[in-house]
Amino acid sequence: MTTISDSAIAQESASCDRIAALEQQLARSQRLAALGELLSTTTHEFNNVLMTILNYASQGLRHKDAATRDKALDKIFTAAKRASKITSTILAVARNRSNNFESTNLKQLVADTLVLLERELSKYRIAVEAHLAEVPEVLAMGNQIQQVLLNLLINSRQAMLSGGRLIIRLEHDDKADMVDLVVRDTGCGIPADKLPHIFEPFFTTKSGPDETGMGGTGLGLASCRQIIEAHRGRIRVESTVGKGTQFTIKLPVAKKEIAGAIAPPILTEPRS
Ligand SMILES: Nc1ncnc2c1ncn2[C@@H]1O[C@H](COP(=O)(O)OP(=O)(O)O)[C@@H](O)[C@H]1O
Ligand SMILES: [Mg+2]
Repeated sequence: MTTISDSAIAQESASCDRIAALEQQLARSQRLAALGELLSTTTHEFNNVLMTILNYASQGLRHKDAATRDKALDKIFTAAKRASKITSTILAVARNRSNNFESTNLKQLVADTLVLLERELSKYRIAVEAHLAEVPEVLAMGNQIQQVLLNLLINSRQAMLSGGRLIIRLEHDDKADMVDLVVRDTGCGIPADKLPHIFEPFFTTKSGPDETGMGGTGLGLASCRQIIEAHRGRIRVESTVGKGTQFTIKLPVAKKEIAGAIAPPILTEPRS
């Protein structure tokens, strides 16, 4: 009899090991998908800036008059500053791989993330409205929250194939002492029967990555939920077909006296 229960225990522990291995594999796939999307986004943006620099440089070379050359140099200077902002954002993401929760300025983080998508959004005729109130800092892993925001913005962009509006709002919910980050789009919306499934890993209605190499894995929102839950926050969705979709993320305010002292839960797979 003991033999049976021993083998049952052995079986159960083997299946627990398998589940843990699958969870690790999922976390790795999510990270790779996020990295791929970031790479694709930033390469596109960087390429756009390079085109501007090339165009104005050739204009400046063709026209000898001082006014045209001054204007061209001015445009090149602005574009080069933008290029440098893009690369420093990528480097910050690549460097900041720690699992540390820090007091984080969400307003700055939202503004930095928008820099990465500015051109792409305007190319798809999407107008961005950012209402970013001064809010208290939150206790967060900055690059992970940036990943969440990028996922949401890319989903919204993909839901507005013929253009639209993207509204980003930052507010302090002083009752709950949380900061709300709201991303709303005027895209296609999500049918009621699909809504309960969108946070499931691998749930996607896209046939594969789009022409910019983004989406289609069904891992975006699953990883958003995982990250927000690890932050002891909440993520909520409301959607109306044909009208649009709104995601609300709530993150706890960083308390000065306890920031750094509390140990929030670690994500499924520690980053190397
Ligand atoms: N803003 C949005 N508007 C409409 N549908 C959305 C939006 N965000 C997510 N979805 C739906 O949720 C699904 C899952 O999203 P996600 O996990 O990011 O995976 P993926 O983008 O790879 O399909 C999408 O395929 C899409 O059907
Ligand atoms: Mg997605």
